[in-house]
This record gives sequence, structure tokens and C-alpha cells, in this order.
Amino acid sequence: MKRGRIELGDVTPHNIKQLKLLNQVVFPVSYNDKFYKDVLEAGELAKLAYYNDVVVGGVCCRIDVSEGQRRLYIMTLGCLAPYRRLGIGTLMLQHVLNYVEKDANIHCIFLHVQVSNDGALDFYRNFGFEVVETKEHYYKRIEPADAHVLQKTISKS
Ligand SMILES: CC(C)(COP(=O)(O)OP(=O)(O)OC[C@H]1O[C@@H](n2cnc3c(N)ncnc32)[C@H](O)[C@@H]1OP(=O)(O)O)[C@@H](O)C(=O)NCCC(=O)NCCS
Repeated sequence: MKRGRIELGDVTPHNIKQLKLLNQVVFPVSYNDKFYKDVLEAGELAKLAYYNDVVVGGVCCRIDVSEGQRRLYIMTLGCLAPYRRLGIGTLMLQHVLNYVEKDANIHCIFLHVQVSNDGALDFYRNFGFEVVETKEHYYKRIEPADAHVLQKTISKS
């Protein structure tokens, strides 16, 4: 495919249906109304990715606070299959990395990836993510049900 223009844009009430459709196509897990309500409040933690003005990707994150630590959790980061390997995933993840860079209180990014998802594992390893744990029976309705926890520690000066 000839390389086109790739951009990120905000998620708004006007375009959130596109994010829903995209996530339905890209992920085997379905997300409920609460997920999308929160996404609308997430500001820079949620973005749509456009390829020549067409929505082809999306990223949704939240801040997780546990044991007194603030961490960024990537809930979804996905791109439509025909538009993969064009750098769209990289642009979305770079946006997340830039966000974390600016927030002195976030030292870590993490996410779950189905153990069979070799492409995503390769993608995240490129950016310095490591498998820190494997959770058995993490997913309820998909096979394999196990998930790797991928994590990247951000060193701050
Ligand atoms: C993982 C995903 C987001 C990658 O998006 P993408 O737009 O294809 O990623 P990029 O084009 O930026 O890839 C950057 C690099 O990651 C690596 N990579 C990406 N996909 C890969 C794959 N399927 N196999 C091996 N390496 C891969 C490559 O090194 C690639 O660089 P290259 O194309 O120059 O070789 C995409 O495959 C996807 O949407 N998958 C389904 C959703 C998902 O599983 N998300 C992860 C859990 S949130």
C-alpha cells in the first residue's frame, strides 16, 4: 500500500461510534458502555488514528493507582488489519510514551496481551516492554484464556 498521511485525533461524542466499531473489529473482547463513557472523559489518554482522514486505529488508556503507585494502563491499542505495519501502532504508542514522559508521577506503563498474540508481543518488545507475569484464565470468553502482562518502566531524571 502506498504510504499515506497518518494523524491522531481526539475522541468526541461525535466520533465515538467509530471507535466502538473499530474496537469490535480489532479486539476479541467487547467493551461496555461504561468503558466508552470513561473514554470520553479521558482527554489525551484516548485517541483515534486516521489514515488519509479515515479512522483506522484507536488507543484507550487509563491511570491505574494501586499500592500508592500511579501507572498508565493501556486498555486497547489497535489498528485495522489492512493498515498494519505502516507505523500507525507506533504513532499511537509514541503518543502514550510522550504523555508519560510529561507526567512526573507515572513511572510505569502496562497492559495485558493474549499469550497467542505474537504480533503484539513483538510490537511491544520493540519499545522495551517486557513480560513480567502471565495470568492464567485472564479472559473469560476467548481462547487461549491466558494473558501476558507487559510492562515498561520509565526512568525519569
Ligand atoms: C499490535 C498492533 C497494534 C501493531 O500495529 P501496527 O500499526 O501494525 O504497528 P507498526 O506498523 O507501528 O509496527 C512497528 C513495528 O512493530 C513490529 N511489529 C508490528 N506488528 C508485528 C507483527 N505482526 N509481527 C512481528 N512484528 C510486528 C515490527 O517491528 C514493526 O516494524 P516494521 O513494520 O518496520 O517491521 C496491531 O497489530 C494490532 O492492532 N493488533 C491487534 C490489536 C492488538 O492485539 N493490540 C495489542 C493489545 S492492546
